[in-house]
Amino acid sequence: MSVTEYRGFAGVRLEAEIRGSADDPAVLLVHGAGQTRGVWSGVAEALERAGRRVISLDLRGHGGSEWPADGRYDFDAMVEDLRAVLAQLGSRPVVVAATLGGWIATAALERDAALLASGLVLVDVPLALDAEVARRIGARLREAATLAPGQAQWDSRLLDAFDSEAVVERLAGAPRAIALPTLYVRGGLSELVPSDDAAAFVATFPDGELAEVEDRAFVVADDRSEAFGGYLIDFLERRAPRASPEYREGSDARSFRDALGCFATGVTVVTAMCPDGTPVGLTANSFTSVSLDPPLLLVCIANSAGSAPFLRKADRFAVNVLQIGQQPTSNRFAGKGEDRFGATPWMVGEFGTPVLTGSLSSFECAREAVHDGGDHFILVGRVLKAIFEPRRDPLLYFRGKYRKLHFA
Ligand SMILES: Cc1cc2nc3c(=O)[nH]c(=O)nc-3n(C[C@H](O)[C@H](O)[C@H](O)COP(=O)(O)O)c2cc1C
Repeated sequence: MSVTEYRGFAGVRLEAEIRGSADDPAVLLVHGAGQTRGVWSGVAEALERAGRRVISLDLRGHGGSEWPADGRYDFDAMVEDLRAVLAQLGSRPVVVAATLGGWIATAALERDAALLASGLVLVDVPLALDAEVARRIGARLREAATLAPGQAQWDSRLLDAFDSEAVVERLAGAPRAIALPTLYVRGGLSELVPSDDAAAFVATFPDGELAEVEDRAFVVADDRSEAFGGYLIDFLERRAPRASPEYREGSDARSFRDALGCFATGVTVVTAMCPDGTPVGLTANSFTSVSLDPPLLLVCIANSAGSAPFLRKADRFAVNVLQIGQQPTSNRFAGKGEDRFGATPWMVGEFGTPVLTGSLSSFECAREAVHDGGDHFILVGRVLKAIFEPRRDPLLYFRGKYRKLHFA
């Protein structure tokens, strides 16, 4: 888990907690009135376990976000905060928002919904507010805010800046414009949102569905919201599924590389001596053992590699398997414009090939065969001699990154 910051309307600093991998589809959690992002902790954990990246935001004047000195807590400022955060995210999240947060999310998505988000989940969002209920809630919040002055989790000036009736009026036409998969979740015992109202409201969304959580007044009232987590994950899996990346012949080469990168390998440097006595070599992880008797191995070399013509013709070559301390060597033999051999300890091996000293193992080979393999060629070597160091750990390569052995 980490904490990050976004810039809201007029540069206000907004804080959010982030869980889960950046590769996973995102869910943005927006808390309700009188709450902070902490209210989502149980939901956030469940979402992370279900393979989602979770961003829990503190609204302005709440929790770790800025409590603006000018006391700007009007609805428009908070709506613009959310739009700004959505624009700063790398991907379009499903926005999950409770009570006040739901009002803000609905207004924020009234324009550009499909550009900013991939789904919307509204929890206990009152759509018409009975004046008496509004007064009771206001009084309850005010009391909570003054109970522990100095320790308050949110700025009680918000209550003075906020006109809930005007907000409800303003939101009347918004759902029609929000063409996103939408879930409305209502606490079965809610006094805030009568059941019939919820059904009518959901029907105003182009793609809305309703869920009622039994035995609850408020769905997200504390961090024990398992029932809600279940509805939410079911909705996400149906309507915003985690896509596994896919490659098909002819589609983007990047996905093909990523698919191949799922195969963890060691790293080698393949070397040979040119006829004029200069050594050549390049980093290669396409190393494979081939045969025990005769002792054969192979590496695949790109036809485009600068050293390819020499390696194709060389009678002898060496494969040096790198150990964990040789990451700089790997970079050097994969990079352009490097003094590869000048900066690397090496010696001429018994069979005349450049052997990198300190490698995990080095195989001196005679060229057995060369096969064409698309944009690479397959260089098969008969092993003349192998030396190896049993006490070092290998340098590993997986998903495009160097790795080290980890024994649990
Ligand atoms: C971890 C790693 C593995 C690589 N594996 C191969 C490989 O198997 N075959 C290959 O031709 N190039 C591979 N490369 C790329 C070459 O090392 C890189 O293109 C190098 O600059 C080629 O050098 P040259 O053009 O001077 O011959 C790999 C690079 C890295 C970092």
